Amino acid sequence: MSAVRTPVTLPARAYVSPEVYERERREVFAASWNYICPAATVAAPGSYFATSIAGEPTVVLRDADGTLRALSNVCRHRASEILSGRGACPKVLRCPYHGWTYRHDGQLAAVPEARGFPELDREAVRLPSFRVGVLAGLVFVTMSETVEPLATYFGDLATTLAPFALDRLVPEFGDAWEATYAHNWKVIADNYLEGYHIPVGHPGLLRLLDYKRYTPHLRTRHAFINGPFREKPSKDQLERSYQESLVPMPGFPQQYEQSWNYVHLWPSTFIDLYPDMIGIWVTRPDGLQRTASSYHVLRSPDETPEAVRLRSLNMHINELVMDEDVVLCDGVQRGLGSLTYERGVLHDSESAIGQFHELLRQHVPGIDQP
Ligand code: FES
Ligand SMILES: [Fe+2]
Repeated sequence: MSAVRTPVTLPARAYVSPEVYERERREVFAASWNYICPAATVAAPGSYFATSIAGEPTVVLRDADGTLRALSNVCRHRASEILSGRGACPKVLRCPYHGWTYRHDGQLAAVPEARGFPELDREAVRLPSFRVGVLAGLVFVTMSETVEPLATYFGDLATTLAPFALDRLVPEFGDAWEATYAHNWKVIADNYLEGYHIPVGHPGLLRLLDYKRYTPHLRTRHAFINGPFREKPSKDQLERSYQESLVPMPGFPQQYEQSWNYVHLWPSTFIDLYPDMIGIWVTRPDGLQRTASSYHVLRSPDETPEAVRLRSLNMHINELVMDEDVVLCDGVQRGLGSLTYERGVLHDSESAIGQFHELLRQHVPGIDQP
């Protein structure tokens, strides 16, 4: 008998157990470096970006002195979220509920009708602060005081992303690029991490990409997936327009011009490296079977009308791909609740799922028990 065994996935329980989800909040998300937003979004003093890290309200802001800070976005009065979305809080963070205000360093600044709190030690009230850092033009936050520095956390990611010069691109956000899915966050990650489903699940991608050369590269706490283009013109009108009008963004690295590339950053961020735009897909667990997501677009600062059109063709093509993936993930989510299914097996081309599940096993001991 061969000593080599087929690699296996996590057990179904890992996707449907409330206990596992609660442990992931603490042992995965609070213990890891999480992508938050492009650094350009919080470049100006007083600018902020509010988000949540697996249900943990968090805000990143640039203080008046130019220091980047990450704070808990939970008011110490009665737990309201303080800031929402993104924007500017030039002087203080003001809670929308009863108006408590906090300085940029998190210290409580003022309390309306303060005499009603005769015993409150206002000096002792501050928003917890978290570690924050910038890598390859992207802001990351961790709630952990012990996890290794961001500079080494993702291995050689900064070197890999350097040619894409993400910090020279312009971030764009849109309501149209916000979505919530009825899937456990790991179902979405698993789906992104393999190309094995392309021939059956994505006819369009199969026409555009040379599936046989679609290759995942496993790296430190991330995976880099290369999807080279086919030479052949697609028979689909939309796809052929994209192929025919494809001009890479100025400065886009030549070695990646003839491909779509995908990066998964542990635990739940995905970067689409297209020649015509970069898309950062942030998925945020918001319950056991609920995942919120935002798509952050990074585009060239001097876009021609043709480049704008090209990018919209790309978005159309990939919206269809996304629709197809949602149906596939719906089916997986239902299947994971089955009484007869215990766990799955992984094809060679699903090795990036194998790496992802291995990280989960390391972070959440016992997650592998069926
Ligand atoms: S909850 Fe923030 S001021 Fe009351
Ligand atoms: Fe897919």
